[in-house]
Amino acid sequence: MDIRSFNREAWDRQVQSGKNPWTVPVPPEVITRARNGDWSVLLTENKPVPRDWFPPMQGLKLLGLACGGGQQGPTFAAAGADVTIFDNSPAQLARDLEVAEREGLSIRTVEGDMRDLSAFADESFDLIFHPVSNLFIHEIRPVWKEAYRVLRHGGTLLAGFMNPVFYLFDWEDMDKGILNAKHKIPFSDVETYGLERLRGEDRPAEFGHSLTDQIGGQMDAGFAIVNMYEDHHNQVKLSEYIETYIATRAAKP
Ligand SMILES: C[S@@+](CC[C@H](N)C(=O)[O-])C[C@H]1O[C@@H](n2cnc3c(N)ncnc32)[C@H](O)[C@@H]1O
Repeated sequence: MDIRSFNREAWDRQVQSGKNPWTVPVPPEVITRARNGDWSVLLTENKPVPRDWFPPMQGLKLLGLACGGGQQGPTFAAAGADVTIFDNSPAQLARDLEVAEREGLSIRTVEGDMRDLSAFADESFDLIFHPVSNLFIHEIRPVWKEAYRVLRHGGTLLAGFMNPVFYLFDWEDMDKGILNAKHKIPFSDVETYGLERLRGEDRPAEFGHSLTDQIGGQMDAGFAIVNMYEDHHNQVKLSEYIETYIATRAAKP
């Protein structure tokens, strides 16, 4: 089975289980507040994205890239943006439609692979919001190239991704509080553990990418990175030592 199909099924099951916080839609209060201009969203796990990273939301053509789950999409729509949510998991997209219907919001959903945005014309968005999700694909440079193509000149790409140091350590040992450097970067769950084991653990396949591909890849695609921050993982031993998420704000000149 190809990784994209494996991860689609894995994410659909995450939605059904209801245990993964990234599949739980926002409650009505969040939408009520967003309609009044009071909103915040996450690109990473804990720190809200600074509000001055966003242009005025009214009428903003916004693409949520690998951003299903009924969280940021409905929040942006309630804040006035013209929202398209793109994701590989039909169940994650159904979450966005569920909130849209519940709240009388308009959200367009498109199912696909983040490396191929051929569903969209060149320069069709003002802002792309890409929360931590490129850990689910083995090659990320095509994502930056496609994001650049579908963004208008002067547009903004906001992206969250993993610091590769997260993938260095043996996860079973880390759960026991031991930091045992074991994996090489780039890291592949599939090559290291195999799909059968991941299926048994009922989780999607993950990949750890170099900073050259994460940051250099954005710049090579044509973006100018203008801001960044780091954020910490919850309940991970490594967080006692370093923040393991990175968020970047990039401009298409
Ligand atoms: C951690 S969730 C991100 C969405 C969530 N709303 C958030 O705030 O982080 C990761 C998302 O990436 C999606 N995904 C995984 N592989 C993908 C791919 N190849 N193309 C597009 N989306 C993908 C998953 O279906 C999932 O909805």
